[in-house]
Amino acid sequence: MIDLKTSKKDFPKDFYWGVATSSYQVEGADLEDGKGPSIWTTFVKRNGTIEDGTDGMIACDHYHRWQEDIELLADLGVNAYRFSISWPRVFPKGTDEKNQKGIDFYNKLIDKLLKKGITPFVTMYHYELPQILQDKYNGWESRDIIQIFGDYAEQLFNEFGDRVKHWITLNQPLRISHRSYIDNNAAPGTKKSVQLSFQVAHHLLLAHAEAVKRIKKLDAEAKIGISNSTIFVEPVNEDPKNIAAARMMDQFYNEWFYKPLATGEYPEELHHFLQERNWAPVILPGDMQKILCGHDFWGVNYYSRSLAVFDTTKPFMFSEAEPVLECTPQKMEIYPEGLVRSLKKIHENYGMKDIYITENGSDDFDILNNGEVKDDVRAGYIARHIEGCLKALQEGVNLKGYFVWSLMDNFEWVKGYTIRYGLVYIDRNNNLKRIPKKSFYDYQRFLNS
Ligand code: FCB
Repeated sequence: MIDLKTSKKDFPKDFYWGVATSSYQVEGADLEDGKGPSIWTTFVKRNGTIEDGTDGMIACDHYHRWQEDIELLADLGVNAYRFSISWPRVFPKGTDEKNQKGIDFYNKLIDKLLKKGITPFVTMYHYELPQILQDKYNGWESRDIIQIFGDYAEQLFNEFGDRVKHWITLNQPLRISHRSYIDNNAAPGTKKSVQLSFQVAHHLLLAHAEAVKRIKKLDAEAKIGISNSTIFVEPVNEDPKNIAAARMMDQFYNEWFYKPLATGEYPEELHHFLQERNWAPVILPGDMQKILCGHDFWGVNYYSRSLAVFDTTKPFMFSEAEPVLECTPQKMEIYPEGLVRSLKKIHENYGMKDIYITENGSDDFDILNNGEVKDDVRAGYIARHIEGCLKALQEGVNLKGYFVWSLMDNFEWVKGYTIRYGLVYIDRNNNLKRIPKKSFYDYQRFLNS
């Protein structure tokens, strides 16, 4: 058993303890019951995009097995669950026509969660853009998407806002823009252009702001935020060139998506760097004031630290050094102190807002043996990051909740099913049987402490 130095009693009574998933990664039933194709439906079909050639057509079949999955949540003892709504499941055409079967699915899910005393935290967009919006408008590349996303947010609120009080507009704009338009490693993934990537990122921030404005108008009490990728960046050593590389990396990964929302300005050095190369986004008058939208909370998705090295062969003059600390099997440094320091930085620099850790978790070897999975790496990783949460609270951070990624093993984007992040093992050779792992029982014990 993991020796957790903290118990749940050390945390505030109203702290949210949860787990997270996203629609395309767990639901399956892609194109079923009136769901329209998303850009991921299209992307996975292209040869060679997904490491093991799989897709999310079935995933964990959560669309059909949601009741069993809610029982797992209840058994685990969480008081919150973060999931995303699949846009093309509820509005297959983008906005106009709703798909009642899709709406019913989320209504049932939300009602049952509430009945079990589990608060829903709903992500509006976790990478599932309706394909039709990509075809019609080029998706996030066009400014049209800003109002369309606002309409979508309003429609979600009209359907679910009587019961859902915690909304997350976007999951990781960094990944939506740069993973697709710089790395071609995520949907739509057909164009490579740094300028376009930053243009997409700009539209994402404006779309987030539009959704915040719409929801706030409908319900001043509802809480709304954004989940940002949060990587703790340090230079690999004290060489001034590496220190400069770390500054650039930090602005690229983190500050570009935090700072404008808190101050109405992009980080200066990176913005200047982009301007010099004609890579800067086109910013219309008034955009930056709009982006400064006064949302309620930061969703922090934290996994690890990255070490920066100066590298002139790379477009942004940095690359990532080999990890040096203890790592997960996927070579991700286990560094809870990075979480604490990231949280403090966000707290101090970006407006003292409430903070939720909306994702934190790790891969592991995950070997099923005699019906058990002893995932000690993951169990230890979670325990140490929970201790980090306590430390951050003691240091004055407005931390309000912690969500483990993920409830269950699922479709890990371009990695397919080759890596696992779940507290619950999904046996893909045995009818997707759910098998709680050791980390599940450890987290459960903590939640009952
Ligand atoms: C996060 C994503 C989530 C999952 C985890 C492992 O960056 O938000 O969907 O892929 O990584």
